[in-house]
Amino acid sequence: MSETPNTTSTVFTPRVFSGIQPSGGLTLGNYLGAIKRFVSMQEAAFETIYCMVDLHAITVWQDPKELVHNTRELAAGFIASGISPEKSILINQSQVPEHAQLGWIFNCVARMGWMQRMTQFKDKAGKNAQNASLGLFGYPALMAADILVYHATHVPVGEDQKQHLELTRDIAAKFNHDYETNFFPMTEPVIEGAATRVMSLRDGSKKMSKSDPSDASRINMTDTADTIAKKIRKAKTDPDGLPSEAKGLELRPEARNLINIYAALSDQSVNQVLTEYGGAQFGTFKPALADLAVAKLSPISDEMARLMNEPAEIDKILARGAQQAREITVPILKKAYDIVGMIRA
Ligand code: TYM
Repeated sequence: MSETPNTTSTVFTPRVFSGIQPSGGLTLGNYLGAIKRFVSMQEAAFETIYCMVDLHAITVWQDPKELVHNTRELAAGFIASGISPEKSILINQSQVPEHAQLGWIFNCVARMGWMQRMTQFKDKAGKNAQNASLGLFGYPALMAADILVYHATHVPVGEDQKQHLELTRDIAAKFNHDYETNFFPMTEPVIEGAATRVMSLRDGSKKMSKSDPSDASRINMTDTADTIAKKIRKAKTDPDGLPSEAKGLELRPEARNLINIYAALSDQSVNQVLTEYGGAQFGTFKPALADLAVAKLSPISDEMARLMNEPAEIDKILARGAQQAREITVPILKKAYDIVGMIRA
């Protein structure tokens, strides 16, 4: 632990935290926007902590048995994609109680007005906001606690989480200001690469999402090779050929999305992909994309299926992760309690 409150220049250990909700299957959006980038940060000079945010998932109804299954499947997805429990701390949120404890303090720091501006709440609550859970409304304060209970300095996420990370900084700044400390770091969002916003295969103006009623709109990490190929073949496009520069994709959301997916899967820039495919028709490009997607995703889904045959192994990894995590979170929460004025033994 590197940090001391009430000093003017606190230095924080470079530490990455990120999380995914175990509220259904993993999509290609989760993989490219988040998990694939978690793996590269694991290989860089960071401590890395990755989390299945089960407490966040129950802000909307989850069948308990399915939640258990989905949490294990998400853990399997992390591991199969290259997150190593030897190099990263892998946890489910509820086994590290300091997240929820700091979350309560942040409920008392965050302002109603800030929360009311959160677009994800508006999207998720829909027209019937009166019937949404209080947890769904308070969700971003718990998310801030997930991050700050580790003093995490960097958070890799997709574009849709940007507003929540700005709120995390607002909460840290208000806490530091109100208690005259610099205990919490200003966390940096890491929103980078060609696939920070993977779009629906049926509608280039909508995000690819596990909650879209149309299964054809997304690629699930558990889809078979045939299904992946079929979904890409049927993906909505326009009648034109591919341009040779990124500028030519500006008004073509569906074409841009497929190129972005190709670029992210093959670790190339959009311009590199267009150098190869500029002038080609979708009849040529789609099969190439399908082959690439199957080559990259099939080994992951095979490994996920193998890991899911040994749920006790997954549970053991998560229990060990929780122990490692608490070595970081317990002292940080204790200091936060001291700063706020809570008596403790
Ligand atoms: P969630 O579970 O909705 O998504 C997990 C991660 O996947 C990214 N993502 C996408 N990226 C690109 N294109 C898409 N179509 C796409 N769909 C999803 C998300 O941006 C995210 O990075 N609130 C978070 C979970 C969370 C969290 C945290 C994240 C809770 N606490 C602390 C970071 C740090 C969420 O609902 O993500």
